[in-house]
Amino acid sequence: MNFRLETLAASAAASHDSDALVVLLTADGIPGNDALARLVADARDSGDLPAKPGKTLAFYKPEGFSVRHLVLADAGDGDARKVRQALTSAWGTLKSASPARLSVLLHGGIDMPLAVRAAVAAAADASYVYSVTKPSAEPRVLSQVAIAVPDAEDAPVRQAFDRAVGTVAGIEFAKEWGNRPANHATPTLLAEAAQSLAGTRSRIQVEVLGPREVAKLGMGAFLGVAQGSEQELRFIVLRYNGGAKSAAPTVLVGKGITFDMGGISIKPAAEMDEMKFDMCGAASVLGTFRALADIQPAINVVGLIPACENMINGRAVKPGDVVTSMSGQTIEILNTDAEGRLVLCDALTYAERFGPRAVIDIATLTGACVVALGAVRAGLFSADDALAQALSGAGERALDPCWRMPLDDEYAEGLKTNFADVANIGGRMGGAITAAKFLQRFTDKFPWAHLDIAGVAWKGGTAKGSTGRPVGLLVEYLQSVVDSREAAVPDSKPVRTTPAKKKLAKPVKR
Ligand code: BES
Ligand code: MN
Ligand code: ZN
Repeated sequence: MNFRLETLAASAAASHDSDALVVLLTADGIPGNDALARLVADARDSGDLPAKPGKTLAFYKPEGFSVRHLVLADAGDGDARKVRQALTSAWGTLKSASPARLSVLLHGGIDMPLAVRAAVAAAADASYVYSVTKPSAEPRVLSQVAIAVPDAEDAPVRQAFDRAVGTVAGIEFAKEWGNRPANHATPTLLAEAAQSLAGTRSRIQVEVLGPREVAKLGMGAFLGVAQGSEQELRFIVLRYNGGAKSAAPTVLVGKGITFDMGGISIKPAAEMDEMKFDMCGAASVLGTFRALADIQPAINVVGLIPACENMINGRAVKPGDVVTSMSGQTIEILNTDAEGRLVLCDALTYAERFGPRAVIDIATLTGACVVALGAVRAGLFSADDALAQALSGAGERALDPCWRMPLDDEYAEGLKTNFADVANIGGRMGGAITAAKFLQRFTDKFPWAHLDIAGVAWKGGTAKGSTGRPVGLLVEYLQSVVDSREAAVPDSKPVRTTPAKKKLAKPVKR
């Protein structure tokens, strides 16, 4: 889809050329006595457009306007969330008319950069159509979106627009890969997607490891999960080099279970199809790289994706089996369905070699996190306050929110076992936290955060589909790292989060 930023005064809206025009209204209304101002005043006075965020009023071939479809949409006080809400409901009234060209008019009285961002995100989100295995689906007709603002030359507005357009490209990339069925998104295909990203975009490199290389690295936990499947595992290493060679990278680790049937600890049949979404962490890493390639920020980022299926065959790992992770810690696999943490722990150990300034893993890790936070906020776990705050702030600004969860050592009690350094499950209680405590054992070399996206990565029911979250959060976070560095005085040290020095219960043997 093609986005454009364009200067348009509200007073000139009537002669604006497009298939559909959405005018986002705040309480300020539209001053003047032109066609739009009169229409808005009339709609408000008559009570036909109540001042309530998300309320809309639609017109067909309105008198005096060039557009065929005009929608007035109330955006309350104009904050980002209400802009999104207004545009989403406006699209609801327009969808059946399938306009190819849509213009969104934003005018005074709102934080323009934030509103522009929200408008771009909402327009992309509302009009996305999955196509890979449903070519018969109504193709996406919306091909051009113009964001019309009072001054398109304003630098902050232009920057917000450019970043937003790059971000939605990343979100859509994540959605498309998240939505693909497992037979169209095997570990091999995921690796090929990463390779084609690197082949077509600048500053991106990719390296793909197979079972032999992974065995050589000693990733016994990852191998253990993959061994029950006919599909070969892939370990995908992406690099985006936008910063100085010497600058420590931020590492993103994405859980890439392309299908999770649970293994021998098999899942119930109902809704098992949704476990094709168990690679949404990986998809969010790919999507973030897609966005980085567009936005080209001055930062170094590494993406790590352990990709495999969690299946059963005669070689599948059995409950009680003990594997040795790359860190040297032995793990008793008491439940083969707690596989995400097993593939992630080896990827986290692998992250050490990059001397990272921070490592963030993204995973559809636990049903318990869905119970705790539902579909609104992702779970955020980190012992590093600065990192946790930066990620929460990014989530709020990007309308892709998360919520910090605790990491008290008491939560790790249940992971103790007589047969290995650690077990892969604790009890049922606080399951999202025990999973995070398990991962934390592999992160003593760098500041670390974990995002449990099990509740937010996809929607079930009739709206079933990937959301592309948390690409918005991640891109905003990475951008904020660059921005805070650039804001720092030149001779000061680069801004870093303070490494969390925490004691592990057991030393990591190598
Ligand atoms: N991929 C699932 C987590 C999941 C389940 C996400 C349902 C979204 C919806 C994960 O691999 C898993 O199976 N976790 C288990 C862990 C348990 C065995 C400790 C879970 O949450 O039930
Ligand atoms: Mn599982
Ligand atoms: Zn899983």
